[in-house]
Amino acid sequence: MIIGKPLFTTQNIQNRVIELAKEISTDYEGKEILAVCILKGAFMFFSDIVKLIQVPMNIDFLVASSYIKTETTGEVKIHADIREDIRGKHVIIFEDIVDTGLTLKYIKDLILSKNPASLKVCAFLDKKTHRHADLEPDYVGYKIPDEYVVGYGLDYDNKYRNLPYIAVFKKESS
Ligand code: PRP
Repeated sequence: MIIGKPLFTTQNIQNRVIELAKEISTDYEGKEILAVCILKGAFMFFSDIVKLIQVPMNIDFLVASSYIKTETTGEVKIHADIREDIRGKHVIIFEDIVDTGLTLKYIKDLILSKNPASLKVCAFLDKKTHRHADLEPDYVGYKIPDEYVVGYGLDYDNKYRNLPYIAVFKKESS
């Protein structure tokens, strides 16, 4: 297994995060939001974007997983749930990637059952090729092709999350 060339450099990432933060700040002007980080993958994206969003917010975290190495198990496990009261809040979920959409569908249904005032999703990466769940993120950093990517929070077997860029993870050099 090797790490390929960066698909998105640190500079690409920073530029796009600034744009997303501006868009969210404009859309939520005059409101307060509850920003929910889906761990582990979204930790780096979340940390970057919340610093740049110009509306009052509370933050919280939800720990979920469904992948073993490069394959989804199809079963979403919640390891730690949101602690904030969701009822009546404008909630934004922050994800590192939406792939099959199973994780997001599960989490969206969980949050919607607690009656937020509104619910939107901001995903840094959107990979549509294997989408099973019928949903689209409201804010997307980049659409990506059918490649397994690591870095900027994204892992292979819990490694490479700390890379400051996003790269394709290849089975062998080509
Ligand atoms: C990854 C990623 C998303 C999910 C996306 O989480 O962070 O939450 O998979 O895939 P899906 O759209 O096919 O459901 P993972 O289960 O690997 O846990 P992690 O966040 O701890 O890496």
